[in-house]
Amino acid sequence: MEESKRNLLNEEAKASLDIWRYALGIADIAAAKCAIDLKIPEAIETHPSSQPVTLAELSSTISASPSHLRRIMRFLVHLGVFKEVPTEDGLTTGYTNTPLSRRMMITKRDGKSMAPLILFETNHEMLAPWLSLSSVVSSPVNGSHPPPFDAVHGKDVWALTKDNPCFGEMINEAMACNARRVVPRLAGACHDLFDGVATVVDVGGGTGEAMGILVKEFPWIKGFNFDLPHVIEVAQVLDGVENVGGDMFDSIPKCDAVFIKWVLHDWGDEDCIKILKNCKESNIGKVFIVESIIRDKKKTMMVEERDKKLEYVRLMLDIAMMAHTTTGKERTLKEWDFVLNEAGFARYEVRDIDDVHCVIIAYP
Ligand SMILES: C[S@@+](CC[C@H](N)C(=O)[O-])C[C@H]1O[C@@H](n2cnc3c(N)ncnc32)[C@H](O)[C@@H]1O
Repeated sequence: MEESKRNLLNEEAKASLDIWRYALGIADIAAAKCAIDLKIPEAIETHPSSQPVTLAELSSTISASPSHLRRIMRFLVHLGVFKEVPTEDGLTTGYTNTPLSRRMMITKRDGKSMAPLILFETNHEMLAPWLSLSSVVSSPVNGSHPPPFDAVHGKDVWALTKDNPCFGEMINEAMACNARRVVPRLAGACHDLFDGVATVVDVGGGTGEAMGILVKEFPWIKGFNFDLPHVIEVAQVLDGVENVGGDMFDSIPKCDAVFIKWVLHDWGDEDCIKILKNCKESNIGKVFIVESIIRDKKKTMMVEERDKKLEYVRLMLDIAMMAHTTTGKERTLKEWDFVLNEAGFARYEVRDIDDVHCVIIAYP
């Protein structure tokens, strides 16, 4: 058989299986949420037996129906979330945690757990807009259809956090868990840039998690955590950090440096330029922007499996911005270059932190 024919048959065979992912892929997310809701990773981790935890032990610990739990665990073992191994006596099998299931521990604040982000992304308010992507994409004129989130809720995500405190708490927790994961990494990569910086404001800093980590890493800094007044009302009280309520579209507290993480991607270019201009006006040193940069496919040979996976996450984030924000998007370097130039920054540098995010340091 010719090579081209063989390739076609292989592609057909692969497609006939891959297509199921699009029909039932939600099962992965739903089963992970179930494990987090029932605190299955915690039950395994803290079980007194210090052995692989059998189905009977697990179902009694979390008061679950053994037959349903068995099916959820079978699926999550298949996905590699948990492991199923023989018990010491060899008579049966039991479950153990993996690095992946430990990242689903809702009770852990260790810089690894992403459970709060998973629970936030899988709540009703966040799930519903995903189903309306086609209406905004098919909108002939940009902005002539309401964005998916607004179409479902009648308001944008930030207005909903104000009106629905439970939703607000979930988003704050979700953001904080990512901050715990990424800020120490970033601090390591940018240590030299904080020398001589006395005051830093975190713009859109949520409840202050990132600034709390920064003032511990760089104890000479006085930190300001700046966010909308209703977010500041529930912000943490932390040594070395002052919470300040306000609107970044009006003005930003004056300081030596601005830190702005996972905020600019929530906004289209016009708003993004306005925020960046306000950052520039508020400080005399530099702006640390922590965001993703979508790779230019033509220029980057993504040969490494890890690079491909990182890029997949960035592209997923971009579609999440389409579903959940009014004008937000993930940007390529060319798109970052445009907004930074328009905001009047003289130059910038990019530091890679081997993560979905990187740090763009912009200088006025
Ligand atoms: C995606 S969250 C990022 C939170 C935090 N920077 C982090 O990465 O963990 C965006 C933040 O921007 C804040 N925000 C939205 N509109 C704002 C405004 N007009 N002025 C100040 N903060 C705002 C939100 O309240 C929210 O805390």
